[in-house]
Amino acid sequence: MVVLENISKCYRTRRGDVYALRDVNLRIEKGEFIVLSGPSGSGKTTLLMTIAAMLRPSSGRVCIGESDIYAMAISERARFRAGNIGFVFQMFHLVPYLNIVENVLLAGRLSGRNASKAAAEDLLRQLGLGERTGHKPAELSAGEKQRAAIARALFNRPQIILADEPTGNLDPDNASAVLGHLAEFHGNGGTVIVATHGPGAQEFASHTIRLRDGAIEGTE
Ligand SMILES: Nc1ncnc2c1ncn2[C@@H]1O[C@H](COP(=O)(O)OP(=O)(O)O)[C@@H](O)[C@H]1O
Ligand SMILES: [Mg+2]
Repeated sequence: MVVLENISKCYRTRRGDVYALRDVNLRIEKGEFIVLSGPSGSGKTTLLMTIAAMLRPSSGRVCIGESDIYAMAISERARFRAGNIGFVFQMFHLVPYLNIVENVLLAGRLSGRNASKAAAEDLLRQLGLGERTGHKPAELSAGEKQRAAIARALFNRPQIILADEPTGNLDPDNASAVLGHLAEFHGNGGTVIVATHGPGAQEFASHTIRLRDGAIEGTE
């Protein structure tokens, strides 16, 4: 359901061109749990953002289901992203001046879904944040922030969740809680792609894709 054909990405900088992805071909089936591994600088973040409809590749095609996502107009792509893709960042990326229920509701608003505050609160409760819904991100621990970010990613009932080193700033207990929530989403039929260089996520993986220097080095 996710197909990448001949994807290359070159960042043009004042210091010259940086080739972050080199002719990547990839097919990810619905319901897989993919771990994307590789050393720092190998292209994991670039690849995730390309799949997430957030970063146009320099060449190649990305199809999600029937949709050729970079052939869409920008507004159509934004709507597609909000309705189909959840993204979890290493550094949480919560909106600092909104409390966490408002952060979650913002995701709903971007998708054009008529979402209730009660639904957002209920989801936060399921993630163990029922007592925290009125708190701003700065008032939460790192583990709580990441669970709030997962709530935001889950809120629109996406088909795919992409997570970029989601446990990189968490202690082991919070890391396994976060991976547990991703595994639960996967258990309910969702597709998960996690970039990581740590071992924790491997136990859930249906496949591991290894990147090196912007190319797929191996799949197992
Ligand atoms: N916005 C950018 N501008 C220029 N180069 C970039 C940019 N983002 C990433 N890169 C470069 O692209 C390569 C891949 O980076 P990235 O996708 O962040 O890898 P990873 O997530 O595996 O660490 C690296 O060489 C990095 O320096
Ligand atoms: Mg990265």
